[in-house]
Amino acid sequence: MKNIDLSNLSDIAVQSFSALENDRTRQLVQKLVASLHEYAKDVQLTHEEWRTALSFLHACSDISSASRSEFSLLSDVLGVSSLVDLLAGKPGATPGSVLGPFHSAGSPWLSNPVNLIAANEGTPVVFRGRVCDVEGNPLPSASIDYWQNANNGLYWQVDPQQATDNLRCQLQVDAQGRFEIATIRPVPYEIPTDGPVWRDLVQPAHRSSWRAAHAHVIVAAPTYVKLVTEFFDSEDPYLEADAVFGVRGPLVGTFKTTQDPELCRRHGIEGDTCLVMDIELRLSKNENE
Ligand code: BEZ
Ligand code: FE
Repeated sequence: MKNIDLSNLSDIAVQSFSALENDRTRQLVQKLVASLHEYAKDVQLTHEEWRTALSFLHACSDISSASRSEFSLLSDVLGVSSLVDLLAGKPGATPGSVLGPFHSAGSPWLSNPVNLIAANEGTPVVFRGRVCDVEGNPLPSASIDYWQNANNGLYWQVDPQQATDNLRCQLQVDAQGRFEIATIRPVPYEIPTDGPVWRDLVQPAHRSSWRAAHAHVIVAAPTYVKLVTEFFDSEDPYLEADAVFGVRGPLVGTFKTTQDPELCRRHGIEGDTCLVMDIELRLSKNENE
């Protein structure tokens, strides 16, 4: 008979996973079990508290569906999504930031320079930039998957008023690694506030429900590490309190009023000046290739 008590339970529970065949899976599971036991002992977890935690996870599961993951939101508001992004960061490369729930494959390929303004209300702006390696050499083989919200804060997938694929595209950069996207200025919006993550965790902590205005990109080039990131507007009021910890210094850009009649004409923007944000996206070489 094994006498299991406080002195040996944690080690026995960790050891019970030692036959997991995959080395990495075994490491992940055993460390997780050890950390959970450590935590419970540290805070002297009670039955009632553990039941509350499990009910919270049940509630997260109940509200989740194919198009809504409360667990992803939980990961975002706990800062774990951002932590994993930062852990994956490479020296000299543009930092990664939260993918969020509104990316889906199959965005239309548009020719660069791109114009996404179409029927959207809002302030016309141009994101202009280039994709390069960590030394600044252009990467003409790079492509960009781009998506953002509309002027009412919503992404097209959750707003029946918007056209399919509104404000999203894929594009190929030019021979100098450059891209140009005419669009509307992204606006701040709230994380979902109808579920347990907001109700039971974020709101009681008096935290903000707002995400600072941003545009998302996935940048890919053969033999380089894929970059999933966002860029932010330096004039946004929520930069200090982004609900999912996505803001990083190098990702914040400024829309500068730019006199460029040709650029305006190209994109059907009235007048001779428009707001332009210049962006550099740096990718690091994939060490496995
Ligand atoms: C977003 O970027 O769209 C997003 C990220 C995390 C939670 C909710 C929305
Ligand atoms: Fe977003």
